[in-house]
Amino acid sequence: MAAKLIKGTEVAQAIREELKKEIAELKAKHQVTPGLVTILVGEDPASVSYVTAKQRTSKELGFYSIQDNQSPDISDDTLLALIATYNKDPKIHGILVQLPLPKHIDETKVLYAIDPKKDVDAFHPVNVGKLLIGEPDFLPCTPHGIWQLLIRSGTQIEGAEVVVVGRSNIVGKPIAAILMQKLPHANATVTVCHTKTRDMAFHTKRADILIVAAGRPKAVTADMVKEGAVVIDVGVNRIGMTPEGKAILAGDVDFEAVQKKASAITPVPGGVGPMTITMLMLNTVKAAKLAAGMV
Ligand code: GUN
Repeated sequence: MAAKLIKGTEVAQAIREELKKEIAELKAKHQVTPGLVTILVGEDPASVSYVTAKQRTSKELGFYSIQDNQSPDISDDTLLALIATYNKDPKIHGILVQLPLPKHIDETKVLYAIDPKKDVDAFHPVNVGKLLIGEPDFLPCTPHGIWQLLIRSGTQIEGAEVVVVGRSNIVGKPIAAILMQKLPHANATVTVCHTKTRDMAFHTKRADILIVAAGRPKAVTADMVKEGAVVIDVGVNRIGMTPEGKAILAGDVDFEAVQKKASAITPVPGGVGPMTITMLMLNTVKAAKLAAGMV
């Protein structure tokens, strides 16, 4: 039987409707408008498209929002000074520097410079550490989006065997940390596979929940998946162009074959992608509440 589709577009829309109510209340009762700045260095086409989508959504939700485009030649010092200005700006609650940055810029230094209370990506080591000890202010956006997809699709997470393919700081490591928390809708047994894993299929075939963030099309094929597994595909691979010049996207999972075996699966596009942006909006609302002393 074909798997149920976990439609990120619909779940994201539902969360945005919840956020709209919260934002209306923030504005009416507390005179607080969530403020987000997205800083883009250079013109990498994928980054331009991500940042444009983030700006569009923040405007739809009624945020105060700034798109700050910087030259690819910007120096570390100028970028750090810019971040320092936004750290001090009371109208800005969330600061997002789109990654990757040009090679000459020290990415670590830049991420460390963002005030942890405005770090809506949750990439600052303070926020990474807070997640690991179970006291997060913010959860990183893509892992949080995956967690919400699992919860809202009714997936049994507690006690489940979860296998994560990929150990990036942005997805693999934090989703493992989230799902192993001693909390309702977590409490899973988590295995993380990576490029040096000896027998990847041995692990993936045990998974009740398989989360794939490998960065490679068809990294997971049907023979690697257990019958009835829930499969979350985090991959966004540009595998070609339409005649109109639009990118053709594919995930990291062989969707056609795996959907015949899984009980539920996320599509690409329309799965994890829309959730990432929505969780960024949720973090910005949380940051605005933190700044107002409401949480
Ligand atoms: N580049 C790809 N994904 C992300 C993300 O979640 N945040 C930022 N800042 N850059 C990215």
